[in-house]
Amino acid sequence: MKNCWQTIKKPILLLAPMAGYTDSAFRIVCKNQGANLLMTELISADAIAHFVGKKQVTSNKIQTNPTYKLMEFQKEEMPIIVQLFGKHPEKFAIAAKWIEENLSPAGIDINMGCPAKKVIASNHGATLLRDQARGVEVVKAVRVATKLPLSVKTRLGWERDDEILEFGPKLIDAGVDALIIHGRTYKDGFANVSRWENIYALKSKIQNLNVKIIGNGDIKNQTDIMERIGNLDGVAIGRATVGNPFIFNPDFLSLPEKEKMEIIKKTIIEHAKLAFEIKGEKGIIELRKHLLAYFKGHPRAKNLRKSFVTVKSLSDIRKALIAMYAIDIL
Ligand SMILES: Cc1cc2nc3c(=O)[nH]c(=O)nc-3n(C[C@H](O)[C@H](O)[C@H](O)COP(=O)(O)O)c2cc1C
Repeated sequence: MKNCWQTIKKPILLLAPMAGYTDSAFRIVCKNQGANLLMTELISADAIAHFVGKKQVTSNKIQTNPTYKLMEFQKEEMPIIVQLFGKHPEKFAIAAKWIEENLSPAGIDINMGCPAKKVIASNHGATLLRDQARGVEVVKAVRVATKLPLSVKTRLGWERDDEILEFGPKLIDAGVDALIIHGRTYKDGFANVSRWENIYALKSKIQNLNVKIIGNGDIKNQTDIMERIGNLDGVAIGRATVGNPFIFNPDFLSLPEKEKMEIIKKTIIEHAKLAFEIKGEKGIIELRKHLLAYFKGHPRAKNLRKSFVTVKSLSDIRKALIAMYAIDIL
């Protein structure tokens, strides 16, 4: 299989993983709007190593396992990367090998940026920025275990913006094909603005190597994509995609209002159908937060809020859309 990091032409437009938001249905919606690379939300390498290590694990048992459910993706999501988190190199290796053999995604990503309290408390995610030696060991172990393209999604540093200039080259030496860098430190959490200067500096420093560098943080529209990309190979966009997958579509903003509205309505229906096909009623319930985001700022949204947060079926969604746009669109 071709290496996705080498075959996608600049700009790589990655839908940044967001646990609880970027499920299969939303990923497909974003791809249809122009995202050219997708990633699952973070999945525990320990949990995968645990279930694949069990003797006599039936395929039925695997398929109902909650961790497996998070890893599952549809064919049309390719190229999609499975993201793992953890701290034990040997468990990452078991997980990566199993994923390669059973799911064949376009790549594996290692999370070294998540600042969530429970992730940090278990020495996972962004703690690998503090324990760089362990981070490097994890990459080496996965590099040996699988031929799949390998990336690390990380931040500028644990507490300083320039740590990535030292850590990045170590990860590259250990065998990554790409680094996705959020322009904040662990200490920032999501506070302060993202700072991309050291992401550009890292790319300049390693420009003679064939390693892709993707910038991430606070991209809000197409102008930001163009202004921020600079010498980088691409950008990853997270929060601004919720309610606005059209951010990936360079032509969307210049369309006449009526056409835009048609695309929004069609996309919401497409999203709802996919959510229902893939997850059934649970998919529709999980879609509620997306519906609120799609309609944010719309003059009728306030009065219709209750109907969005109680949808249980495709027909409820159709009714909410008709009320929203006051015309029969279907
Ligand atoms: C609700 C939420 C969930 C997230 N989940 C993940 C995750 O599973 N894996 C990951 O690497 N980053 C995760 N992130 C971080 C985003 O991928 C991204 O790095 C961050 O939001 C900054 O980009 P943005 O400003 O475009 O949103 C999450 C962010 C949010 C807001």
